[in-house]
Amino acid sequence: MMLKGKKGIISGALDESSIAWKVAERCHEEGAIFTLTNAPMAMRMGKINELGEKCNSKIVGADLTLVEDIENLYDESLNELSGKVDFILHSVGMSPNVRKKKEYGDLNYEWLNKTLDVSAISFHKMLQVAEKKEVLNDWSSSVALSYIAAQRTFPFYSDMAEAKSLLESIARSYGYRLGKLNKSRVNTISQSPTITTAGSGISGFQSFFNYAEKMSPLGNATADECADYCIFLFSDLSKKITMQNLFHDGGFSSTGISEDIIDDFS
Ligand SMILES: NC(=O)c1ccc[n+]([C@@H]2O[C@H](COP(=O)([O-])OP(=O)(O)OC[C@H]3O[C@@H](n4cnc5c(N)ncnc54)[C@H](O)[C@@H]3O)[C@@H](O)[C@H]2O)c1
Repeated sequence: MMLKGKKGIISGALDESSIAWKVAERCHEEGAIFTLTNAPMAMRMGKINELGEKCNSKIVGADLTLVEDIENLYDESLNELSGKVDFILHSVGMSPNVRKKKEYGDLNYEWLNKTLDVSAISFHKMLQVAEKKEVLNDWSSSVALSYIAAQRTFPFYSDMAEAKSLLESIARSYGYRLGKLNKSRVNTISQSPTITTAGSGISGFQSFFNYAEKMSPLGNATADECADYCIFLFSDLSKKITMQNLFHDGGFSSTGISEDIIDDFS
């Protein structure tokens, strides 16, 4: 029971393929109590209620681009959990440009703002409201999910690359601030391609999933394995890890080329 006595908030569980869904299941197994949150649209799908029952968790609707929704999320969560929180998972991403297949050279700038707001600035908003409302216990751990397109170009990832760069930068800047404030930690996990609703919305996803699988000596990291990593980062075993972007990708980020890929070209 690595998270016994810990309290948290988990965003982004849409259905059983969501990374956040797996994280919630694992947190429950490890003895944590937490609330679940998602955007009102996702709540209407209703799937998240199953997860709520399974984990004995209250579900609080919140559009994480709206400060007032986040304030309400924290009020309801602290009330439900009878106290401040030890961990927060940000597992939220969406690009209207990617969704509507707008090319990188033809971005709709209103949509770009939306991409950045939903996928990155929402993390800043969660942390800023958490600081102002004093919702974080000492040594709390906040984690957001990123992708290596923040460092290297993956053409089909389009403006989500900018969002991930910003997300990782926010984790560093806010990690410094919260570390000084009350020893709270902030990190991003740079996860392998994973077959989920958001993942498979990217065109050519299956091909770059297969490519990453062949490039990584350990193969792609699954959503379940990502959940295990989150448990470690929420636990006291990772107390001095902060302001990091942590690759969880089976070795992909350090591999130049693999024998499997060479074989494909021979
Ligand atoms: N799937 C992958 O290949 C992959 C790889 C690396 C990182 N990630 C990241 O993991 C995170 C989770 O994605 P996933 O793959 O589990 O897909 P997912 O579609 O299951 O999760 C995305 C979630 O974001 C929520 N969301 C969208 N707009 C929101 C808003 N305004 N307010 C609150 N919630 C909102 C959706 O309802 C959904 O639950 C994302 O940040 C994604 O970029 C995914």
